[in-house]
Amino acid sequence: MIEIEASVLSADFGRLSEKASEAEKAGIDGIQIDIMDGQFVPNITFGPGIVHALRKVVKVILDVHLMIVDPERFIQDFIEAGADRIFIHQESCTHLHRILQDIHGQKIEAGVTINPGTSLSVLEEVLDFTDIIQVMTVNPGFGGQKFIHGQLNKISRLREMLEKLGYKTPIAVDGGIDTTTASLAVNAGATILVAGSSIYNTRASVAQNLAALRESIKI
Ligand code: DX5
Repeated sequence: MIEIEASVLSADFGRLSEKASEAEKAGIDGIQIDIMDGQFVPNITFGPGIVHALRKVVKVILDVHLMIVDPERFIQDFIEAGADRIFIHQESCTHLHRILQDIHGQKIEAGVTINPGTSLSVLEEVLDFTDIIQVMTVNPGFGGQKFIHGQLNKISRLREMLEKLGYKTPIAVDGGIDTTTASLAVNAGATILVAGSSIYNTRASVAQNLAALRESIKI
């Protein structure tokens, strides 16, 4: 089954709890919280406090996408705040192997995210500690950007690489996912879709937008 997660980066920041609950009631599979430090990416968003606040209102998977430099400094804070899954950008740290083992050791799902310009080869040495791989289909930092179609080939090659090496690691895609690009990403091998502006917008309700996304990936 294909999972769909809502990225609250596109939600009304003044009503985050309400907007997260709305997605949960609409049947979302998870909530992704984009943590940005203004250094790894040119934007600043949330800290562990927001994760803690949303943990109190939703039961679905809380997925923390760390777009910060030296993420090892804050892993414990996000785990204590209630994260179920933590994504580390391969480009953001020196000791990815150690960080993934640390997260894994605490029974939290450890994910690795790679930017559009990053080669798949960086993943090879850490696949044993990687519960999920996130391929960025935009350059990280903002919602509402255009999907980078060039990443579809990368997703297919990743799926092939994992199968050849005997891994069943789920592949998430993040950025520019909508009713046109969702099926392209799924056909390329993605099993988790992270969507922000196609779920949270003024065109329709969260429930209607989610239903349209699910409809678009029906085979
Ligand atoms: C961007 C974030 C994405 C973003 C997705 O850096 O990681 O999660 O919120 O938003 P859309 O779906 O609007 O591209």
